Amino acid sequence: MSKKEYAWWQEGIIYEVYIRSFQDSNDDGIGDIKGVIQKLDYIEWLGVNTIWVTPFYPSPMKDLGYDISDYTNTDPLFGSMADFDELLSEVHKRNMKLVIDLVPNHTSDQHAWFKESRSSKDNNKRNWYLWKDAKPDGSAPNNWMSVLGGSAWEWDEKTGQYYYHAFLKEQPDLNLRNEETMNAILDVMRFWLDKGVDGFRVDVMWHLIKDKLWRNNPVNPDYKDEQPDADKLMQIYSCDQPEVHGIIQKMRNLTDEYNEKVIIGELYLTIENVVNYYGEDCDGAHLPSNFELIFLVPWEADRIGIAIDKYEAALPEKCWPNWVLGNHDKERLASRVGNEQAKIAAMLLLTLRGTPTIYYGDEIGLIQSDIPEEEIQDPQGLLMPGKNLSRDPQRSPMQWDGSVFAGFSTKKPWIRLNKDVHENNVEKQKSDPGSLLNFYKQLIDFRNENEVLKTGVYIPVGSNKSTLAYIRKKDGKPSILVVLNFTSKEQDCQAIIDNYDGEIIISTNGENKNKSLKGVNTLAANEGFLAILRDDEN
Ligand code: NOJ
Repeated sequence: MSKKEYAWWQEGIIYEVYIRSFQDSNDDGIGDIKGVIQKLDYIEWLGVNTIWVTPFYPSPMKDLGYDISDYTNTDPLFGSMADFDELLSEVHKRNMKLVIDLVPNHTSDQHAWFKESRSSKDNNKRNWYLWKDAKPDGSAPNNWMSVLGGSAWEWDEKTGQYYYHAFLKEQPDLNLRNEETMNAILDVMRFWLDKGVDGFRVDVMWHLIKDKLWRNNPVNPDYKDEQPDADKLMQIYSCDQPEVHGIIQKMRNLTDEYNEKVIIGELYLTIENVVNYYGEDCDGAHLPSNFELIFLVPWEADRIGIAIDKYEAALPEKCWPNWVLGNHDKERLASRVGNEQAKIAAMLLLTLRGTPTIYYGDEIGLIQSDIPEEEIQDPQGLLMPGKNLSRDPQRSPMQWDGSVFAGFSTKKPWIRLNKDVHENNVEKQKSDPGSLLNFYKQLIDFRNENEVLKTGVYIPVGSNKSTLAYIRKKDGKPSILVVLNFTSKEQDCQAIIDNYDGEIIISTNGENKNKSLKGVNTLAANEGFLAILRDDEN
């Protein structure tokens, strides 16, 4: 069989499952691995081919699973290793892929490695973490701040040194400059690769290496009070160091020993810096996450057009683009752009060039849930009160049906359900042909069958403050024109589409569906459509 021209992670679509909130199978109000298995038919029906599942490893849950105390096991809260094996095999049976979270920047302070490391200054794992002496006045070695609030340094009374933690004090950073530590992480990857996982989403990839000289980060003159503490400083020494690429290279070399695995990098950087993570010859991360669309506020057509052009231009020639609209750390898509724009966002995500990532629940327009202050569980919200930084609202349970706990569980969920659960759920939307869910499905089904959308080039047609239009093109196939109205007002689109003829195949409001482009002059409020252009224009 000849090798396929494009890999599964280039042609497919990624669906993020935040495991705690997806489906509870054992009536404890917390989502788990078996719950994901129960919902695989749904995910398959939706048409995505890749599931990224958030950490299910043993953890004291200080950062809800991102504080791992054993990298090669499962937390009983989420299930057993046998459950994981079943998940993997069930995913593969459906010709889908499973990507797991790899958190190599830090462990839990309850990890055996850290317990050893902190036991004495001359323990042979001391150097596995980042220990530093206090300054002569007893203060921390430098001014670095934790992403989740407060100083990034914790004093250890027993051994008389500080250790560095980019996140919680219960999440000490590993020293990946130390070869032994790095090899231990590679062994962890090998463990899961040998089981057959299809890749890793590497947590906080840009944090993995810090300045060797531990220089102070400069003060950020533009800092505003509502921002996280860490933004008081420009994080130029604590993150995104050139040597990080050597670390990624090692991870990539390992995954290349296996067949068609993927490395997705979590990166909150400017696009110019994100693209460096592809490596010099696309031999770094396969998909360094592109979060541009998450940060586009206000949600305006011309700004989005510029962001797409900038990304396309910055992308190294042979590397593969990707687009992300939401995740468990950022405000929900439907709350950010508004419900009326949710279909436009879906159409944008699923027609751009590059692998799309959908955050669970965005396909039914889940909004931020209203969580009273006294119920906040997210450490980011607890450690920086009053700044509205809690990530709980974007982690509410998936809304499967209108029953009392939304079909998520038979018990009160670990986190508050959205108020709109009775009006908005999968069951309801499935039976409504005009729903957001069915719109996602229609777009996904179309994309899965359409080579132009999956792998064709992107050509901008034009944009103004309200409307964005672009073409996707591939030799020998009919091109596709996408026109999107980013406003709640009717817009004239004649000037943009005047030069084209073709048939509208998918439309947000159904009215223009099956119409010829020649008969369309206006876009209704919040309308977007996708048209197949006539052959002579290709
Ligand atoms: C990124 C994860 O997405 C987030 O939830 C977590 O708090 C930090 N990394 C620390 O692991």
